[in-house]
Amino acid sequence: MDESTETRTAGAGAGAGAGTGAGGAGTAAAGGGGRTGGGSGSGGRAMTRRALLVGVGAAGGAGAMFAAMGALGLAPGSQEKSFAPPQRSDFALQGRGAAKVVVLGAGIAGLTCAYELGKAGYDCTVLEAAERIGGRNLTVRGGDRLTELGGETQTAGFGEETYFNAGPGRIAPWMITMDYCRELGVPVEVFVNNNASAYVYTAGMSAPVRARTARADMYGYVAELLAKATDAGALDRRLTGEDRERLLEFLRRFGDIGEDLAYRGSDRRGFAAYPGGAEGVPLPGPSSLGEVLAAGTGRAITMDFGFEQAMPMFQPVGGMDAIVTALARAVGGDRIVTGAPVTGIRNLPGGVEVTHRGGVVRADYCIATLPPHLLARLRHNLGAQVAAALRTPVPAAAGKIGLEYGRRWWEADDRIYGGVTETDLDITHIWYPSHGYHARSGLIVGYYNTDEAAEAYGALPHRDRLRRALTQGKKIHGEKYRAELRSSVSVAWHRRPYAEGGWVRWPSHDGGFALLQRPAGRVYFAGDWLTHLVAWQAGAMESARSAVTGLHRRALAATS
Ligand code: ALA
Repeated sequence: MDESTETRTAGAGAGAGAGTGAGGAGTAAAGGGGRTGGGSGSGGRAMTRRALLVGVGAAGGAGAMFAAMGALGLAPGSQEKSFAPPQRSDFALQGRGAAKVVVLGAGIAGLTCAYELGKAGYDCTVLEAAERIGGRNLTVRGGDRLTELGGETQTAGFGEETYFNAGPGRIAPWMITMDYCRELGVPVEVFVNNNASAYVYTAGMSAPVRARTARADMYGYVAELLAKATDAGALDRRLTGEDRERLLEFLRRFGDIGEDLAYRGSDRRGFAAYPGGAEGVPLPGPSSLGEVLAAGTGRAITMDFGFEQAMPMFQPVGGMDAIVTALARAVGGDRIVTGAPVTGIRNLPGGVEVTHRGGVVRADYCIATLPPHLLARLRHNLGAQVAAALRTPVPAAAGKIGLEYGRRWWEADDRIYGGVTETDLDITHIWYPSHGYHARSGLIVGYYNTDEAAEAYGALPHRDRLRRALTQGKKIHGEKYRAELRSSVSVAWHRRPYAEGGWVRWPSHDGGFALLQRPAGRVYFAGDWLTHLVAWQAGAMESARSAVTGLHRRALAATS
């Protein structure tokens, strides 16, 4: 995209440019069906959110099977669990120098490779196709320009304080992304992924309900049903008398049900007027169990059940691209060449040769971190099996729109401080910012969708994406959603040069997945797409560590 980003990034010691590499982007909404992503599970489905979101297969056996295999540690190609970065002393002991490595892609995977190899003094060159670095780690600021395949260019009109994480937006505490933030000195803050004050909205409702209300009602009715069944002896074949008492005790707390085990609502639902000097005014309701089920608002209750989505989650202060800037600074801007799309990769008898738009680079090894569907298009001599494996993962559509407002009405009017509104409308999620509370202006993510919904929005020019997103969001937030808008930018990842997808799905992990985790001659592969953390920066980093570890062992063992 964008000259201004280029200048800024270069000023920070990096190159510039948009990249391929790795990193996570969007989340999911499975077409018209179960909504996931944005943290919400799709209530009632057996498959894990991850399987639904980015897992293998469309919605069926392969995905569920692979998720189960992964959980059991049976899936092929587990990543390195303990990682020892290459060190200069590894070579010094042998009286030899580190090798020359050409890294393809300055996304998170490529930058992590160059960063880790740099610790041992490898001579790394990173070739980046775009004019900016970061790949799918994309933070849009005022003045940035985004050009999509098809030619439309948007220029962000955001104010000084505004940024839009158009790719990855959240980090779980157990992810190695946090370790890199610590190591590189990137400050992090809490990303609010679950907010009881955010809304749930099902198409056709006259008004949204608060997540807290939806949860209270679902928990309440589930507790009532189970408690009454337990009490009536329906579960006696499974429960001892003691079990029964303990379960009932838990269900009373879980659902806030009465002594008679009935759910009649509770102050957990929230209030029309909250208590203060005066007693609170309860919300009307609850509706009957049938009405609650029919409303579909139960989707809010699985919001952060997934292991990748549970609170607390984190974001870098000031924008996700702080990770890119820090990695690039550590690598050294002089090692990163932007505007250099790769056209060919060749294994030679004693090295590799990479052809790019600006010339040819020869090195001892190559690490290719482009998305597999882009690698598949290059001229190479890596063999028919590698070629077939690279063609196997299927890129997924994903889209986001950033909506900047001159007034933080979601805080002032709706009392929503961060978090996500869940809806079955095609916008799927609305994210509220987890920073800058009470500032004058702010930016919300007005849609975050995948698959058919993302395709539909992506097919439109930005002006029409915006119109559609505002029409939908207005059903939840009212006229101010349209009237108070200041500026907007949308991204359709499947239409972004050098990405052409939010992430990939493997139709099957038979063969190709494991094959690409091994080098093809002197060419290694890395990216989130080679891990069980597809669509997360942590996947790109794990994969980079794995490639670097393999390469370094080999370099140490090499006799010449
Ligand atoms: N990592 C992506 C997200 O957080 C899928 O939505």
